[in-house]
Amino acid sequence: MPLRFLGIDFGWEGKASGLACLEWTGSWLRLSDLHLETDLAAILKWVDRHASEDTVIGVDAPLVIPNETGMREADKLAHSKFGKYHAGCYPASRERNYWKRTTGISRELANRGFAHGDRMRPRASGRFQIEVHPHAAIVQLNQLDRIVKYKRGNLAERRAELGRLRGLMLSGFPNLTPVLALSDLPAIPSSGIAIKALEDQLDAITCAYVAAHWWYWGRERNEVLGDSLSGYIVVPKRQSANLSLADLRENYALGGLVESDLDASPFAQFEKWFAEARASGLREPNAMTLATVSADSSPSARVVLLKGLDQGGFVFYTNYDSQKGRELSENPAAALTFFWPELERQVRVKGHVEKVSREESDTYFHSRPEASQLGAWASHQSETIPDREFLAARVAKLQAEHAGKPVPLPPFWGGYRVIPDSIEFWQGRPSRLHDRLLYTRRTDGWTITRLSP
Ligand SMILES: Cc1cc2nc3c(=O)[nH]c(=O)nc-3n(C[C@H](O)[C@H](O)[C@H](O)COP(=O)(O)O)c2cc1C
Repeated sequence: MPLRFLGIDFGWEGKASGLACLEWTGSWLRLSDLHLETDLAAILKWVDRHASEDTVIGVDAPLVIPNETGMREADKLAHSKFGKYHAGCYPASRERNYWKRTTGISRELANRGFAHGDRMRPRASGRFQIEVHPHAAIVQLNQLDRIVKYKRGNLAERRAELGRLRGLMLSGFPNLTPVLALSDLPAIPSSGIAIKALEDQLDAITCAYVAAHWWYWGRERNEVLGDSLSGYIVVPKRQSANLSLADLRENYALGGLVESDLDASPFAQFEKWFAEARASGLREPNAMTLATVSADSSPSARVVLLKGLDQGGFVFYTNYDSQKGRELSENPAAALTFFWPELERQVRVKGHVEKVSREESDTYFHSRPEASQLGAWASHQSETIPDREFLAARVAKLQAEHAGKPVPLPPFWGGYRVIPDSIEFWQGRPSRLHDRLLYTRRTDGWTITRLSP
């Protein structure tokens, strides 16, 4: 089952709660559901539907009974830390009815196996719940100097601020690590009720994102205010802008690659390098050269995009009838090369290739813009065509045929997964004395050896 991150922006008594589900593709996150429920039983049903065995839930609601003063240590800390951004917590009193409900959801989640995540290790497997404060998280993740005030003021002010939040999320999340690839969000509505619903949903996305950020980085890039006895809030730390290339060079490239720094799993090691490539602002760090070999031993190579790292393999999508598709059906073996010049790094992968399930291909196909979906239908990839007009005419015909209808997954299009038997990490070093560390698959795991440059 895939890794999931759920966000619950818990509503006050009788008010709706925003719900968001993020899926981890292996390298980044995608939003797979955005929802609204009022009733606790319905919220829990939604959780049951979306949670897998490995799920972290970020809840915007106090999870633990407050102390006798009515305000928990975590709220006090959040208040003193984020007050200057107007993003402190509401003083939460034990008297309020909603305490029963909010602490109720924590118990219900615990009954479903979601342990408190304040002490979880980064990348841990299992079910966890953490408490999140979305206002503070947005301020931190976007380096703001004041809160986005979408919950206060008249309708016009709230709409404007909610529009600002929507814009920050669309431009901010795809540039953070882990990446949340958000290409769109619902438009800002005009009625007060609909605005409230969207506020709750956007906050739910932030809650889910903080759960993912906590899972990914742990305390390296998050802070835990309070503790699980008296209540705690997980807040991302401010990053000094994106890690600059200069920092990366200083920290990693010039330091070289030594055995003791390597993760025992080549996938975890790849994710680490990939996250650094993304954080460095490199263009298309997921572009990789794919080499295939035909049945008569003729090699060919081309660039494709990595679209997932999961189930032990590197996933890309293409036309199954293309040259590479034909070669892979004759000889299901491939090599991949990533080159990140600014980091002086190369990764080489070699392995066998399997098609991904039709369900996975369908999900990915429909996550693409409609124009790309029609493009996939229009192009009989790698076949000779008379001219560009031929292609344009095919697209126009398909557009007319599919107007107002969903575009189905073409039977000749889908994903491949390269399942490696070896992965080499190459780090450039002075005087051509580069570091080359090779993971080789054995029946009981991976061995790591050093190769001469
Ligand atoms: C940056 C970049 C990304 C590309 N991504 C893909 C991709 O994900 N899938 C794909 O089929 N082709 C992709 N292409 C095009 C391929 O390089 C190639 O032209 C096409 O797949 C036909 O290859 P073939 O005739 O060997 O099958 C990409 C090209 C570039 C330059």
